Amino acid sequence: MATFMMNSLLPILFFMVLQLSPTTSITCNVKPPPSTTTTSVICVDQNGCCNFTTVQAAVDSNLNLENDIYIVPYSTEFSEKVKVPKEKPNITFQGQGLQSTAISWDDIASKTNGTFFTGSVEVFSDNFIAKNISFKKCQLISIAKETKGSINGAVTANGREKEDSTGFAFVNCNISGTGSIYLGRAWRPFSRVVFAFTTITNVIVPEGWNNLNDPNNEKTVFYGEYQNTGVGANMNGRVPYSRNLTATEAAPFLTKSFINGDQWLQPFA
Ligand SMILES: *[C@@H]1O[C@H](CO)[C@@H](O)[C@H](O)[C@H]1NC(C)=O
Ligand SMILES: *[C@@H]1O[C@H](CO)[C@@H](O)[C@H](O)[C@H]1NC(C)=O
Ligand SMILES: *[C@@H]1O[C@H](CO)[C@@H](O)[C@H](O)[C@H]1NC(C)=O
Ligand SMILES: *[C@@H]1O[C@H](CO)[C@@H](O)[C@H](O)[C@H]1NC(C)=O
Ligand SMILES: *[C@@H]1O[C@H](CO)[C@@H](O)[C@H](O)[C@H]1NC(C)=O
Ligand SMILES: *[C@@H]1O[C@H](CO)[C@@H](O)[C@H](O)[C@H]1NC(C)=O
Repeated sequence: MATFMMNSLLPILFFMVLQLSPTTSITCNVKPPPSTTTTSVICVDQNGCCNFTTVQAAVDSNLNLENDIYIVPYSTEFSEKVKVPKEKPNITFQGQGLQSTAISWDDIASKTNGTFFTGSVEVFSDNFIAKNISFKKCQLISIAKETKGSINGAVTANGREKEDSTGFAFVNCNISGTGSIYLGRAWRPFSRVVFAFTTITNVIVPEGWNNLNDPNNEKTVFYGEYQNTGVGANMNGRVPYSRNLTATEAAPFLTKSFINGDQWLQPFA
C-alpha cells in the first residue's frame, strides 16, 4: 500500500500564505456551528479556543468518516505542513474568508526533504474541498519524477480512476505565488478538479491543465473552471479539454456550500 501510494498517488502541494489580520486577541470568540448527524465540524484555533491547535491534529483525529467533515481553521495563519491521507476522504477545509485564513508554507520544514516533500498541504484523499482559504506561493507538487520544462508543478493531481463522484473542488480560494504551475495534471484518466469563485494570479500558466503526456487522458478528465477571477483565470490560452462550466455544471461541486453550508458558511467569528 505504501509503495502504491508513493508510485501513484500524488499529493497536491500548496505553498500558501496568509492574509494577515492586524489583531491578535487571545479572547476566545470562536463559535463553530455544532456538528449534526451527517456533518462533523472540527474547529482549529492556535490559541486553544477549540478542538485542536493545528490543522494536522484535526485531520489526524478520530473522524467519523461516514459524515461530511468540515475542518474549520480559525486562526489567521497556520504555518504548518498538512497532509490529508488517502484514508480520510470527504474533508472540507472551511476558512473564515480569503482575507482571514490561510495555511502558510512552513519554510523550514519544507527544506528538510526535497521537492516531493515541500508542499505545505498534501492531499491524497478524494473529495477534498478547500473553501475560503488563501493559498499562496504555490509551487507545487508534481508527480514523482515528472519535472519538465520550467513549469514547476500543479495545484492538483487528482487520482480519480473511474467515473464516480469523487474529485477535488476549490471554491472561493486564492491561488497566487511565484513560478509557473498548472491547475491540474491528469495523473489518472478520470482526474476531476474544479476551481470556482477563485482568484488566480499569473502563477497559473495560460494552458492551465496538463495531460501528463497522454492525450488519451484528455477524453476522460474533467477540468472545470467557474467564475474565477484574476489574470490566471483567463481561459483564452487554455488546453481545449478545459471546461468553462455553466452554472448547472458547476452546481454539483458547490453542493456543500449550497446545502450543508447554510448559516455556518456565513462569518461566525
Ligand atoms: C469540538 O468541540 C466542541 C465544543 O466544545 C465539542 O462539542 C465537540 O465534541 C468537539 N469535537 C471533537 C472532535 O473533539
Ligand atoms: C465520501 O463521499 C462520497 C460521495 O458523497 C461517498 O460515496 C463516500 O461513501 C464517502 N466516503 C466515506 C468514507 O463515507
Ligand atoms: C467566505 O468568507 C466570507 C467572509 O467571512 C463570507 O462572507 C463568505 O460567505 C464565505 N464564503 C464561503 C463560500 O464560505
Ligand atoms: C489573493 O492573494 C494575493 C497575494 O497575497 C492578494 O494580493 C489578493 O488580494 C488576494 N485576493 C483575495 C481575494 O484575497
Ligand atoms: C526524507 O524522506 C525520506 C522518505 O520518507 C526519508 O527516508 C529521509 O530520511 C528523509 N530525509 C530527511 C532529511 O528528512
Ligand atoms: C465562461 O463562459 C461565460 C458564458 O459564456 C462567459 O461569460 C465567461 O467570460 C467565460 N469565462 C472565461 C474565463 O472565459
